[in-house]
Amino acid sequence: MEIDGLTFPEALKQLAERNGIAMPKRNEYGDPESKLRTALLEMHEIAAQLFQSNLRGPQGAEARAYLAKRGVSPDLADHFMLGYSDSGGQSLTRRLAQEHFTPEQLDASGLVRRRDDGSLYDSFRGRLMFPIHNESGKVIAFGGRAMRDEDQPKYLNSPETPVYRKTSVLYNLHRARDTMRRASRAVLVEGYMDVIGVYAAGIKEVVASCGTSLTNPQVRVIQRLTADANVKAGTVIVNFDPDNAGANAAEKAIQLFLDEGMHVRVLSLDGGLDPDEYVKQNGPEAYRAKLDSASGYFHWLADRARVRFDMKTSDGRMDAFKFLLPSVQKISDKLERAAIANDLAGYIGVDPGLVLDQFKRAAAERRTPAPKAPARPAIPGIENLLLQSLLASDEVRAQVLPVLNTEGFATREIFDAMRHQQESGAPVTFSSIEARLSPSAQGLLHDIASADEMIEDAVAREQAQACLRRLEADHRKRQVDDLRAKVKAAEREGRIKEALGIIAELERLRKEMNAAGVD
Ligand code: UTP
Ligand code: MN
Repeated sequence: MEIDGLTFPEALKQLAERNGIAMPKRNEYGDPESKLRTALLEMHEIAAQLFQSNLRGPQGAEARAYLAKRGVSPDLADHFMLGYSDSGGQSLTRRLAQEHFTPEQLDASGLVRRRDDGSLYDSFRGRLMFPIHNESGKVIAFGGRAMRDEDQPKYLNSPETPVYRKTSVLYNLHRARDTMRRASRAVLVEGYMDVIGVYAAGIKEVVASCGTSLTNPQVRVIQRLTADANVKAGTVIVNFDPDNAGANAAEKAIQLFLDEGMHVRVLSLDGGLDPDEYVKQNGPEAYRAKLDSASGYFHWLADRARVRFDMKTSDGRMDAFKFLLPSVQKISDKLERAAIANDLAGYIGVDPGLVLDQFKRAAAERRTPAPKAPARPAIPGIENLLLQSLLASDEVRAQVLPVLNTEGFATREIFDAMRHQQESGAPVTFSSIEARLSPSAQGLLHDIASADEMIEDAVAREQAQACLRRLEADHRKRQVDDLRAKVKAAEREGRIKEALGIIAELERLRKEMNAAGVD
C-alpha cells in the first residue's frame, strides 16, 4: 500500500495479479480514486509509447546521437524504454486529447500543463525521457534529461501524483527485484544514467532513488527484497558519486540501511568517476570486480572521520569516536559488532575501555523489548457477514445502516464510519471508510476485506436480512433472559406484584416474537 500508494483492495489485487491468483472483482474499483489512478497509468503508458516512437523517428535524431555519444546502444535504450519528448509542446497533449480523459485527470497527470487561457501543452519538451516504473512494471512517471548544457534543469522530473510517490519509488526496481532476491544483494547508485550503465555491465540488481535523497520507505523495499528466505539480512552496496554531495548522501544512506539491519558496503570509485563513467572507461569486468571487493561501510566511514576530524588532538579523536559509534551500535549481528568494536579503538586511537563501556550501554538498551501490539479481537461471524453485505451493495447500506443498532459490536467503529460516510453524501468506498478508522479498526476492516468473496446485490440483500433477523432475535432473547432474572429476584424477595407485572411484560414480548416469526 505504502510503496505504490494503493488502497488495501488495490494492493490485494496487484499482489494477486503478480502471483497469478484469481481475485474476485469488487465494486469499489469503481471508486473515484481508483478510477483516477487507472487513468493516470493509461496516460503514462500512452506517453511512454509516444516518446519511444519519437526517439525512433526523424525528430529523435539529436537524442539518438546523444545516446550514442554516451555509449547507450539502441538495444539498451529499448530495454529501458527511453524516449524523446519533441520540442513542439503539443504532441502528447494532442495524443491524450484523442482519448476519453477528463480535464481533471489530465491536470492530475503532470504530463501536460494548463495555460491561463485553459489551453494545454506538454510538460516535457525536447528532452531525453526516462520512464520510471512501479514495482509491478507500470510506468508512473518520467525523468527528462536536457541534452544541451544551456537547458535547465538538467533533469526535469514528474511531480508527485496519485500513482507516483517519489519517496517510495526506486528507479529500475521492477527489473532489479528478481536478481535482488536471488543474490540477496542490491546496488544503490545516484542517477538514472548510472543505473543504465551498471545494468549494462551485467549488474541487474541496481536501483536509484529518483532525484530525491534516500528515504526509509525506499530502504525498506530494498531490505525486504534482499532478505533471504530465512529472513537473514541482505547486503546493499552503496556506490554514489565520489564528490562531496555523494559522500554526504552515502553517509545518510548507510545509517538508514543499518537501521533496517542490513549489511552495508560502500564502493567509492577512483579517478573521481561515477559508476556510469567508470563502466565506460574501464569495462564491465573491472566494475564487477570493484563491486565484489567493496569494503564494509565502517572502513569507509572511518576514513571519512579521519578527514573530517583532527586526529592529532584528543578532542578530535573523541569527535571521530562519537561520529562512528552510532553506526557501530546499530549492527545487529553480534560477531560483526564485536569485530568492528575491536577495530574501532585501534583505528582512531581511543581508550578501548571507553569503547567497551559504550557497547555495554547500547547492548542493555537493545535488550529492552519493544512493546507488543495488542492482539486484535476476533470478529463475530454475524458482524463479518453483515459488513460483507454492506460493503457489497449500496442498496443494502441504504436500507440497513439507518435502522441498525451497533451497540456492543466489536466492529462498531467500522459501521459508524460507514454510516457517517453515507450521511455525508460522498460515495461510500473502501478507502473513504478506511480513512475514518483508527489503526486497530483498519486492521479489522482488512481482515474482512481479505476474507471477502464476491457477493451479488441479491445475495447481499438476503444475507443482510438474515443477519438483521438474527440480531433482532438475539436482542429479544437477551431481553427475555433479563426479564426472567428480574421475575425470579422479585419472587424471591416477595415483591409479588412487581413479579406479575414483569410476567405480563414477558407475555407481551413472546406474542410479539411469535407474530414476527422469530424463535
Ligand atoms: P547526476 O547529475 O549525477 O545525473 O544526478 P546522472 O544520472 O549521472 O546523469 P548524467 O550522467 O549527468 O547524464 C543524479 C540524479 O539526480 C537527479 C536525477 O535522478 C539524476 O539521475 N537529478 C539530478 C534531478 O532530479 N534533477 C537534476 O537537475 C539533476
Ligand atoms: Mn552521471
